[in-house]
Amino acid sequence: MQYPDIQFDPLFTWFNRPRIMYSPGIRKELGFEMGQLGGTKVVIFTDKGIVNAGVADMVIEAVKGSDLKLVGVFDDIVQDARIDIINRGAVFYREKGADCMIALGGGSVMDTAKAVNILVGMGENDFQPLAEMAALWEGAKPLPPHIALPTTAGTASEVTNAIVVLDTSQGVKLAVTHPYNADVAMLDPELTVKLPAKITAFTGMDALTHAVEGITSTGAEPIADAMGLHAIRLIFKYLPIAVKEPGNIEARGHMQIASTLAGLCFGNTMTGAVHATAHALGGKYGVPHGLGNGIMLPVVMEFNVEAAPLRFLMIADAMGINVKGMDPIRAGKKAVKAVRDLKKDIGLTETLADLNIPKKKKDLMKVVEAAAGDSQISYNPRYLEEADIYKLYIKAFK
Ligand SMILES: [Fe+2]
Repeated sequence: MQYPDIQFDPLFTWFNRPRIMYSPGIRKELGFEMGQLGGTKVVIFTDKGIVNAGVADMVIEAVKGSDLKLVGVFDDIVQDARIDIINRGAVFYREKGADCMIALGGGSVMDTAKAVNILVGMGENDFQPLAEMAALWEGAKPLPPHIALPTTAGTASEVTNAIVVLDTSQGVKLAVTHPYNADVAMLDPELTVKLPAKITAFTGMDALTHAVEGITSTGAEPIADAMGLHAIRLIFKYLPIAVKEPGNIEARGHMQIASTLAGLCFGNTMTGAVHATAHALGGKYGVPHGLGNGIMLPVVMEFNVEAAPLRFLMIADAMGINVKGMDPIRAGKKAVKAVRDLKKDIGLTETLADLNIPKKKKDLMKVVEAAAGDSQISYNPRYLEEADIYKLYIKAFK
């Protein structure tokens, strides 16, 4: 497809951290790379699922074969980066006398670890007031050495400077950014082969949502377009294979690369109404982030097509749809159908009804209000009133 007459804001900045290393087995370089960063005593931040699956042992073995000293494994992280657990993580890090960290896990683990490193680096004990500040850029200083190894292919927290934390006292998710994210992102697809099919599917939908929303965001720009469009190509080719053949390293590797590319895309341009509505479902009802995105993505895309037709034309093309000579809005609608077909193919058939989300207007309006107040809603290419958000949720019940 020829490049369309696409518009973007003439002022944008491109944030470019961390260093990214890719290879099956790249974890064996952990000791050397941490040594280069000046780290000597490491704490691994992870969760019990990763420990029980034997994935933490793969990384512990790699650390033990190096000069890096393992001083502790903090595996109390649960779904979503909870402020109480972040604070406990910082206590653990200090008690163990660590001077560097490895984050091993999905988005909840990597976000928790990022927040712990901010507490340690800033000499603070409580993340709550920092979370409420949202942007921690003024006077920000480099943080202790931090290497992130994702065990899912979706969140891309290993490359973004954003942290989404759950404030359990209010049931809301807060997004915080700090310019010093991980120093190195190590993409080792061998760490993802034990991921169950369902989680592979919905974390893959998170990656797809990052790419689609990153390309259609009000902050869209050409560097992010390049990242997001290639992520879409890879996801449409390799996500079904990764779901059906969990041990396929080629598919797992391409999905990790796709996730990272999509993260670089949205990390610079932000997201939109899919993330806002999914965050609200997560905050109020504990819906896993990728699943919430997977449910909301086609519904929100349908709503947005007419607001950014040329952007959806590029997206349709990247999905493999033959858009030559096609009206951009028609191409965008075909892209929506392609997402629905992909979801079926990977077994993601859930609706909000299946998740027992209360449909009564009085209850649903609480979720609508949370979505309307979410920072990501302002980047959506089409303006939404609360009534629009309500309609989107209603459509997601079937
Ligand atoms: Fe996401």
